[in-house]
Amino acid sequence: GLPEEVRIHEVGPRDGLQNESSLVPVEVKAEFIGRLAAVGLRTVEATSFVHPKWVPQLADAEELMPRLADLPERHPGLRLPVLVPNERGLDRALAHHATDIAVFASATETFARRNLNRSADEAMAMFRPVVTRATEAGVTVRGYLSMCFGDPWEGPVPVDQVVRYGVQLLEMGCTELSLGDTIGVATPGQVAALLAGFAKADVPVDRLAVHFHDTYGQALSNTLAALREGVTTVDASAGGLGGCPYAKSATGNLATEDLVWMLHGLGIRTGVDLRALVATSGWMAERLGRPSPSRTVQALLGT
Ligand code: HMG
Ligand code: MG
Repeated sequence: GLPEEVRIHEVGPRDGLQNESSLVPVEVKAEFIGRLAAVGLRTVEATSFVHPKWVPQLADAEELMPRLADLPERHPGLRLPVLVPNERGLDRALAHHATDIAVFASATETFARRNLNRSADEAMAMFRPVVTRATEAGVTVRGYLSMCFGDPWEGPVPVDQVVRYGVQLLEMGCTELSLGDTIGVATPGQVAALLAGFAKADVPVDRLAVHFHDTYGQALSNTLAALREGVTTVDASAGGLGGCPYAKSATGNLATEDLVWMLHGLGIRTGVDLRALVATSGWMAERLGRPSPSRTVQALLGT
């Protein structure tokens, strides 16, 4: 069966904007996040405390955080996670009162090297003290795992390899594991097979989230396959913004609007006001100077 409710983990301000080459002003980012909270999204990934030279678009994290400080009061239950790669990033996030962080590992060697400048195992070693210290400080930690289905340099990624790294992230203290199809090559049968691999390793499905990219138009089919296996947390990006600057051929994330259209059509609750969300993505598309790639945004805006 399908769930009655899905929690959407909105990644537009982080995963979406990190790939934009022209710098978006910090006021626009703050307004974007405020609007996403106002449409009913309850988890909005705000920014990254990574090295500013690696992701220049998010180098303003310190300026952004104070502008978001009143949002959780205005929108009860709102969480604003930030990406943190290492202890330096954790120090910065804690200094700005982050209550939720995410570390981001890779299921493949090549992407670990390109995205984190280390081997996959060295990256795990880098995250361990981050997760421990964050947890001690009462901060919730999500673990992302990238390249869970295919890697642009290494090809298909074996289920065992993905499960091994995923279990490591959970065992080090991540409360949630987001399985990323970073380059959008997965098809629904692979999704079911990977989730079966985690079930076999005794990982409860309520600790898993899915993160699909729409490169081959499979993101919604893959999401439906995951929902059928019991997943209830789905990552998506408002307007379909984004991709990863360190992954060849990583185009848009699953658009939040396309996801909400499908979920509401299935009678699954999200808490999101779709019209208001579409208006927000239309507004952001104007700021970025090009139309949203989301089919639902295009249909509802009549563009
Ligand atoms: P490195 O060069 O190996 O870092 O980068 P290092 O530890 O050798 O340190 C070098 C210098 O950088 C030091 O300064 C550090 O202090 C400084 P120095 O002592 O030489 O003056 N430094 C920092 N400064 C500020 N903030 C920090 C920080 N860390 C070190 N956090 C590092 C390693 C991990 C930092 C780098 O590779 C990095 O920042 N990578 C991030 C790349 C990134 O953000 N990629 C996109 C996100 S992942 C993604 O999009 C996938 C996902 O969306 C899911 C999916 O779709 O699959 C999550
Ligand atoms: Mg992504």
